[in-house]
Amino acid sequence: MAETIRVLVSEEDVDKRIMELGKKISEDYAGKQVHLICVLKGGVFFMCELAKRITVPVSMDFMCVSSYGDGTTSSGVVRIAKDLDEAIEGKDVLIVEDIIDSGRTLYYLIDILKKRNPKSIHLCTLLDKPERRERDVKVDYVGFEIPDEFVVGYGLDYAQKYRNLPYIGVVEGLE
Ligand code: IMP
Ligand code: MG
Repeated sequence: MAETIRVLVSEEDVDKRIMELGKKISEDYAGKQVHLICVLKGGVFFMCELAKRITVPVSMDFMCVSSYGDGTTSSGVVRIAKDLDEAIEGKDVLIVEDIIDSGRTLYYLIDILKKRNPKSIHLCTLLDKPERRERDVKVDYVGFEIPDEFVVGYGLDYAQKYRNLPYIGVVEGLE
């Protein structure tokens, strides 16, 4: 059966929530510059929209770590495919991720980044699937907690498809 997409969070609700997160982050980082680190590729749509809603000075960098292949389950292997361009020493870092699932990717990433001596390091994710957690990761900002379903859109893919959907959807009809 061909896969179909059921809307889980509408475009309007995603946009509204990102606006709220941007406001909260701007308050929390008042008087500081926030250094956003986007976890590619999934975090990129969220980071761009979020950055537009933050009113304190923002700088950005990108990192690509992969723990998943083309399917919907973790390969268990976390690999840095692209490292940051700039040092983060002394910076107030905010990692921007699309989704925290098992928590393995972020657990590993936070560990690596902490060793580079940022002034602070926090985590913002658009989606959180707490039921699936295997590693204890402290999430500071969450867009939406969602049930254990495979979702796409707003940066999230299924076999590299659907990242460009402007809403969050559940893929149905997967084998
Ligand atoms: P974790 O290491 O298990 O927390 O996995 C995090 C990564 O897995 C995310 O950054 C996504 O790239 C991917 N992932 C986890 N759940 C989903 C999903 O429902 N849809 C699409 N990608 C997902
Ligand atoms: Mg991701």
